[in-house]
Amino acid sequence: MKIAIIGAGALGSVIGFHLAPVISITLVDPWAEHVGAINATGLRCTYNGDETSRSIPATTDPASVEPVDVALVTVKAAQTAWAAETAAQLLKPGGVAYTLQNGLGNAEVLSRRLGTLRVGQAVTTLGATLLGPGRVRLAGRGPTTFGAAPSLSIAYALADTFRTAGLPAGVSTDLNSLVWGKLIVNVGINALTAILRVPNGALASVPAASALVRQAVEEAVAVARAAGITLALADPVAETLAVAQATAANRSSMLQDILRGAPTEIDTINGAIVREGRRLGVPTPFNELLCDLVKALEATAPLRVQEP
Ligand code: PAF
Repeated sequence: MKIAIIGAGALGSVIGFHLAPVISITLVDPWAEHVGAINATGLRCTYNGDETSRSIPATTDPASVEPVDVALVTVKAAQTAWAAETAAQLLKPGGVAYTLQNGLGNAEVLSRRLGTLRVGQAVTTLGATLLGPGRVRLAGRGPTTFGAAPSLSIAYALADTFRTAGLPAGVSTDLNSLVWGKLIVNVGINALTAILRVPNGALASVPAASALVRQAVEEAVAVARAAGITLALADPVAETLAVAQATAANRSSMLQDILRGAPTEIDTINGAIVREGRRLGVPTPFNELLCDLVKALEATAPLRVQEP
């Protein structure tokens, strides 16, 4: 099996770093700076303070890559349309693109270009932070679950490959409950850490912040129930706070985006709850407010007052 990873950000780099010794892999990324760094010095991954470098081919040009069986899509939501075009060029006939991205709506963007039979979804809890072009820090090897659709055999092959590479992985026939479970955790953590500019742990340790997590999560759970989703979380608020505690020192991906001045995934996370809420007649005023605040943060980035 030949795999291409679309996106050499935090998640794509960590996956590529692990898979490279066990399978043929290429990283495809829109940023020449990332690709140049990976090709010049290898992909460098830090774990528990130790840095290891691995040589992995990287390119900005999908036409230069031999056709692959699987494309793992790990870009941020803002680049999903580019990832769909890139996957269309990379995949063999019968090849499948799996989205490992946060939030809702990415699979639909990929499906519009590739067709639903060539798009799968996976949910990952791998923790990673991009330190710079070609440099990534692994925070934790949480499990990755591949959806059984559209190809059970490819899903099993991917899970096997991940496990051989030291990354816990499995296959699920009910991925939707995991997708929504992760969405709800992201709804509770990402926007609030970006607005408050705190590491994840502050949401669990500061009661005033935990109360805001509760409001965001309770609205999202009401929307999930109205959508008929059986959530994989028994107590969504407690489990969201437990993830915040377990990743206490991490900066959420949305806080990292805001600090870099990059577009965030607010539309596919809290925005998805607002959209689904409207469709199903469930009010989501707190998530609407979070969306407006994060959009204002994105838009005012150039005007931000510098720390003395
Ligand atoms: O997006 C993220 O940062 C992560 O999914 C999570 C779980 C919130 C941890 O930082």
